[in-house]
Amino acid sequence: MGEGPPGALSATQYYLAQSLDGYIAETDHGLDWLTKYDGQSEADVSEVTDGSYDAFYAQVGAIAMGSATYEFILAEGSGWPYEEVPSWVFTSKERPVPDGAEVRFVDGPVGPAHEEMRAAAGDRNVWIVGGGDLASQFADEGLLDELHVTVVPVILGDGIPAFARRLGRKLRLTGTSAFSSGMVQLRYRLARS
Ligand SMILES: NC(=O)c1ccc[n+]([C@@H]2O[C@H](COP(=O)([O-])OP(=O)(O)OC[C@H]3O[C@@H](n4cnc5c(N)ncnc54)[C@H](OP(=O)(O)O)[C@@H]3O)[C@@H](O)[C@H]2O)c1
Repeated sequence: MGEGPPGALSATQYYLAQSLDGYIAETDHGLDWLTKYDGQSEADVSEVTDGSYDAFYAQVGAIAMGSATYEFILAEGSGWPYEEVPSWVFTSKERPVPDGAEVRFVDGPVGPAHEEMRAAAGDRNVWIVGGGDLASQFADEGLLDELHVTVVPVILGDGIPAFARRLGRKLRLTGTSAFSSGMVQLRYRLARS
């Protein structure tokens, strides 16, 4: 299903991968279920997951994440993956900044930081990386426009949920992609009312 011309209007997007039962990480922050996932579709689908991420990321002009996600990326030790894009990291503590990263630390409500992110992003999009509570903070303030969920066909049974709270907005489907890996991406716009 298509979703119109990309990048026509800047949007704030929560782009994430979740297990089939709605978790973005295991309770101990483990992500092996995602990074080591090695599945295959038995349905007749041709899209590949990698190209989809590249197309999404090409339209990103600013990034937001919580400190647990930030520390997870740093601990990975493969370098900062978002060198070209300014990032806002929400934390109440002092954190290191890796070489090549353009990071601003924020302690407080998401609204003022979101204004800075929109200004920095220009006609590109703002990516809310996560975690679930940070995504809920943006949603609570009415600042989330789109949800791009890649569903990984694993059941974890427990973990860190994609949202911390109920989302009181209707979701309108704007697109779907079924990948040869067996993952499926669902794209929604949050209705204004
Ligand atoms: N599957 C996916 O697509 C995906 C996406 C994103 C993340 N993840 C994973 O999911 C896990 C997320 O962990 P998490 O839910 O614990 O969350 P997180 O959002 O990464 O970090 C939460 C922490 O951020 C800080 N924070 C949040 N909001 C703040 C605010 N408004 N002002 C100041 N500080 C604020 C607080 O810590 P301090 O104040 O103590 O710093 C809070 O404990 C990580 O393991 C990550 O790697 C997976």
